[in-house]
Amino acid sequence: MHDRFAFAGGEAGKWEILSLRAIRGRGLEPVRSLTVHPVADNLAMPPAVWVLTGAMSNLRYTTRNEVTGLRAKQEPLGRPGARLAALIPIKKSKAWWELAQDERRAIFEEQSHHTAIGLDYLPSIGRQLYHARDLGEPFDFLTWFEFSPEHASAFDDLLSRLRATPEWAFVEREVDIRLRLT
Ligand code: HEM
Repeated sequence: MHDRFAFAGGEAGKWEILSLRAIRGRGLEPVRSLTVHPVADNLAMPPAVWVLTGAMSNLRYTTRNEVTGLRAKQEPLGRPGARLAALIPIKKSKAWWELAQDERRAIFEEQSHHTAIGLDYLPSIGRQLYHARDLGEPFDFLTWFEFSPEHASAFDDLLSRLRATPEWAFVEREVDIRLRLT
């Protein structure tokens, strides 16, 4: 996999941690700050209390129409006004991973409308999905979102809609970390 990134929780970093809550399963040790940096073999890792690693990857479930819809609406990360962020690491259950690809897609979109719901919140919410399962990490996914303070309540609304879907019945560990640029 390419484009690996490390999310390092510790005492100092670009992002100040506003809150860190276990939504389901075990949480993570509370820390003051988070640094996000690319992983390179020759790069020394800064000291950290915990480090989660994920890699950008190809899409698994998205249809051509959905890709077109997403590209038309989504904004890149690092926008000047987007001073708030959320890091939400997620692990899905064995039952999820035992399903076939078409069964997972049906739960994800036809039953849960994940993309359709998410599209309602673009372009306000910037997003990036990192895959971690194949790296042998404790979480399957690291999800990252950036938004301005005026869109913080919309982000909470998005989360409550997604957490109420059939897809989330397969989530066995989820930690909700909120951050602010220092
Ligand atoms: C901001 C609006 C959002 C949009 C437009 C969106 C869209 C998507 C899309 C299109 C995928 C499928 C990628 C693929 O084809 O492989 C995806 C996957 C995923 N999203 Fe979202 N999403 C949004 C918000 C969220 C939020 C708030 C969370 C977490 C709380 C989340 C968690 C995930 C996870 C864990 C996956 C991977 C699912 C899997 O492969 O089993 N998403 N999202």
